[in-house]
Amino acid sequence: MTHRREEHTFIPEPDLEGVSVDTLAVRAGQHRTSELEHSDAIFPTSSFVYGSAAQAAARFGGDEPGNIYSRFTNPTVKAFEERIAAMEGGDRAVATASGMAAILATCMALLEQGDHVVCSRGVFGTTNVLFQKYLAKFGVATTFVGLTDMDGWREAVTDRTRLLFIETPSNPLCEVADMTALAELAHANDALFVVDNCFCTPVLQRPFEYGADIVIHSATKYLDGQGRCLGGVVVGNHQLMEEVFGFLRSAGPTMSPFNAWIFHKGLETLPIRMRAHCENALQLARWLEQQPAVEKVYYAGLESHPQHELASRQQDGYGGVLSFTVRGGQPEAWAFIDATRMVSITANLGDVKTTITHPGTTTHGRLSPEDKALAGISDNLIRLSVGVEALEDLKNDMRRGLQALET
Ligand SMILES: Cc1ncc(COP(=O)(O)O)c(C=O)c1O
Repeated sequence: MTHRREEHTFIPEPDLEGVSVDTLAVRAGQHRTSELEHSDAIFPTSSFVYGSAAQAAARFGGDEPGNIYSRFTNPTVKAFEERIAAMEGGDRAVATASGMAAILATCMALLEQGDHVVCSRGVFGTTNVLFQKYLAKFGVATTFVGLTDMDGWREAVTDRTRLLFIETPSNPLCEVADMTALAELAHANDALFVVDNCFCTPVLQRPFEYGADIVIHSATKYLDGQGRCLGGVVVGNHQLMEEVFGFLRSAGPTMSPFNAWIFHKGLETLPIRMRAHCENALQLARWLEQQPAVEKVYYAGLESHPQHELASRQQDGYGGVLSFTVRGGQPEAWAFIDATRMVSITANLGDVKTTITHPGTTTHGRLSPEDKALAGISDNLIRLSVGVEALEDLKNDMRRGLQALET
């Protein structure tokens, strides 16, 4: 049988100097094997072999670069890390088992007992729990402030503050932070400015351009885009990422090669997916705003949104997530959700399939009533992660929800 491998063919790495984020999504981070595959190879292996005992020693000792063990070195994971780092405009990325693992790894690697964090109040509910319950156990205190309350941020910072953490736009109310102002505040106080860029992805927003030190993702969301697997990633400069990598190597919340492959391929369609999400979400937000049973729509693409101007400056689109309140309370919100027949009732977001959830009893259900009130998570609030289905079909499903409120 003829072996198809072309031993001597040399395919140069693509020249990606100065190309756009759309091109990086498709071309960055691919290193073809000697099989010359057009798509990307996957390396589902826990360990790697060496040519000699001396080579094994050199690898473990850090004298020779190369793969060792997939808790901290795997070519598929590395390919995904290179692609997302290029898209975000960071030096290096470190992939993790989930978005929460990315936040945990960042904190464990870069904070120590006695340090203080200032975190925006409108973060994903579990992020709030991680800071408030678990990091507190190890002597890291967190103060929560309103995302857009600059005076609150200034007052919250102490001489022990080492990290400012935000999501922008926030989940679920789509508030938008002034990243330049927060980066200045962080740096004036010798603290790191960390942005969870899950809602926008690098296609719509690149926080390093506004002074962020670290960008975090739940890859589970838009980076995958089809709701298949969990993952996370931390992006930053070489020095910071070496610390995060060191934590991962020692503690092990690592991304699997299978998941890395899914995310790596997911990135290839991210730019066109994000544009489709943005277009559908904007049209749906405008339409919902006109419905009498809808009290208020939260979406930065609407001119009625208080940070619409800021979002237009900072972002290349307003994203696929929007929230709205219906007239009434939790029974009305649940009735709306239960009357839908196409969108998926699930708390995940960033999927090509539209999802609908009641934040007060799902994603933010673990917050105390006081914290919910402060974060603006009311009983009549519904969150939509708008997918790429036909807009008319989405409106028809929302009409079912609205009709349930008329009876
Ligand atoms: C903004 C944001 N950050 C982080 C996370 C946590 O990510 P994961 O579920 O991958 O751990 C989520 C999950 O919904 C999220 O919405």
